[in-house]
Amino acid sequence: MSSINRDELRLVLEFYRNMGLSSIYMDEFRDEKSGKTVGVEEKTEALEDLRKNIIGDCRKCRLHEGRKNIVFGEGNPDCEIMFIGEGPGADEDIQGRPFVGKAGQLLTNLIKKMGSDRNDVYIANIVKCRPPGNRNPLPDEARTCMVFLKRQIEIISPKVIMVLGNVALQNLLGTDMRITKVRGKFHDYNGIKVMPTFHPSYLLRSPKDKWLTWEDAVAVLKYLGKEIEDQPAAGRRA
Ligand code: URA
Repeated sequence: MSSINRDELRLVLEFYRNMGLSSIYMDEFRDEKSGKTVGVEEKTEALEDLRKNIIGDCRKCRLHEGRKNIVFGEGNPDCEIMFIGEGPGADEDIQGRPFVGKAGQLLTNLIKKMGSDRNDVYIANIVKCRPPGNRNPLPDEARTCMVFLKRQIEIISPKVIMVLGNVALQNLLGTDMRITKVRGKFHDYNGIKVMPTFHPSYLLRSPKDKWLTWEDAVAVLKYLGKEIEDQPAAGRRA
């Protein structure tokens, strides 16, 4: 389908208004929750504004001291599923992209198995700069950076967020619950379904639990009404 630019769209809408049509429903331009008019172009612009003008060369916490790159996040701003991890590791810091190391490969495989690829979903982290030695982000670092992530989520407005591991779970939902207790059950973040699941780094250490993450992914796919192509029996290793 060929696309039209804003000026052309305005002309088309004016034509219909002159014909007496007073309202028009455009699914892809409407945010169901806020009723605000948002489309992929607006989301892309808003994310660029957040990255360039609000985050910029952020030095709000000590993590900026050791970073090579700010890892903003990437993917489809108009996605249904957003994945949130903990923070960049060494590979991500070098490339300035989230989940590109070994754990990232596992996440990429999961996304593929879910019938999507990385360009269909959006991937971000609780903190955007690498904590030294891959330690967990400290509470003040996470708090400072969460302002940016919250805005990112608001712009993207996904249908489901999969939080990967305890750090993502606890910081996004403001809870001390642990993944092992709450994974597999939907939670809520400002009206968005949140599915907590294991962090891919944990799955690299404990591959026997991969099938549980697949179960969580299946719950997400079912919620979204998507086809599930390859569903291993419960308890089987994925
Ligand atoms: N682990 C994370 O939590 N995020 C990344 O981007 C990479 C590894």
